[in-house]
Amino acid sequence: MQDDVLGLLRKQTGTYMSGEAMAAKLGVSRIAIWKQIQSLKKHGYDISALKKNGYILRSSPDLMLPTEIKAGLQAKMFCPKIYYFPSIDSTNNFAKKLAQSGAPEGTLVLAEMQTQGKGRLGRSWFSPAGGSICFSLVLRPEVLPAYAQRFTLMAGIAVAAAIKKVCGAAIQLKWPNDLVIAGKGTYLKVGGILTEMGAESDRVNYLVTGIGLNVNIDKNKFPAELRSKVTSLKAQVPGNLPVVRVKLLQQILLELERYYKRFLAGDWKNIVHEYRSFEILAGKNVKIRQGEEIISGKVIEIDAEGRLVLKSKNQVFRVIAGEVTLQKNNFKL
Ligand code: BTN
Repeated sequence: MQDDVLGLLRKQTGTYMSGEAMAAKLGVSRIAIWKQIQSLKKHGYDISALKKNGYILRSSPDLMLPTEIKAGLQAKMFCPKIYYFPSIDSTNNFAKKLAQSGAPEGTLVLAEMQTQGKGRLGRSWFSPAGGSICFSLVLRPEVLPAYAQRFTLMAGIAVAAAIKKVCGAAIQLKWPNDLVIAGKGTYLKVGGILTEMGAESDRVNYLVTGIGLNVNIDKNKFPAELRSKVTSLKAQVPGNLPVVRVKLLQQILLELERYYKRFLAGDWKNIVHEYRSFEILAGKNVKIRQGEEIISGKVIEIDAEGRLVLKSKNQVFRVIAGEVTLQKNNFKL
């Protein structure tokens, strides 16, 4: 009902709409409309009321509220249900619980901030209120567990494509899951992807793909130890204007859905080809840590399976996962 009231106010741009007309359209009482208006105001919607004229929506809050996401969302298959939290420990944790209790494909868990956001390899993910986009999506592809990594790669391209469309920023990907932007002599991280799964030995029950993006976070708000390694999208757009998170999130969901459908239709070969065009490591000297072991070498390519192919002392390694560090002599930006 709240979504409907908001929908009517949105359609009525620039003019008032009477409580009576709204009530008639929605088949409810004027009191019911008034209650919804009060609730919207509490959520930060600036709605003015004039006794004779009715209500007018002056502005919407800078929050990623489900009503905002759903209004104009072009993704069709994703978001049958949106779980929204002003604050949560980790959207991935919540999405995993939902997935375990049967939540359908495309279920979206979204938060303004996370108190224990998780990064890859046991790291934490900084996700403060107002400046980040952090969400997790439940997927149920019928694939082998070994294919889970492909969803991280695919999500990377989808997010990069969405950012390019909405903000014009040229995002690149650092295998496997970093979204980066070329800075002065280095690459700065703007986002990351963490895919977790529930699986049996020969089939995936669910995947939870979690995406974290630094959108409107000022440099000095990042923890000191991160400042030289990260950036926000806002810093990459002309005039450093804040990015409208709802718009960006809607585009990300649309691109994710497009790539996911292509994946399900068997288009992985082309998807990995596209991934290569965004990826920065090919031809570069790197160190890869896999547990206690560190391998140094030159990256040859990302292969057809999405693995990183590394040449080290005349030996070729095909790496499925690991932490990659670029050697200092790589930067010709
Ligand atoms: C990384 O680069 O290490 C991956 C970061 C992934 C962060 C996102 S934010 C939404 C989702 N919930 C989490 O706890 N983590 C992921």
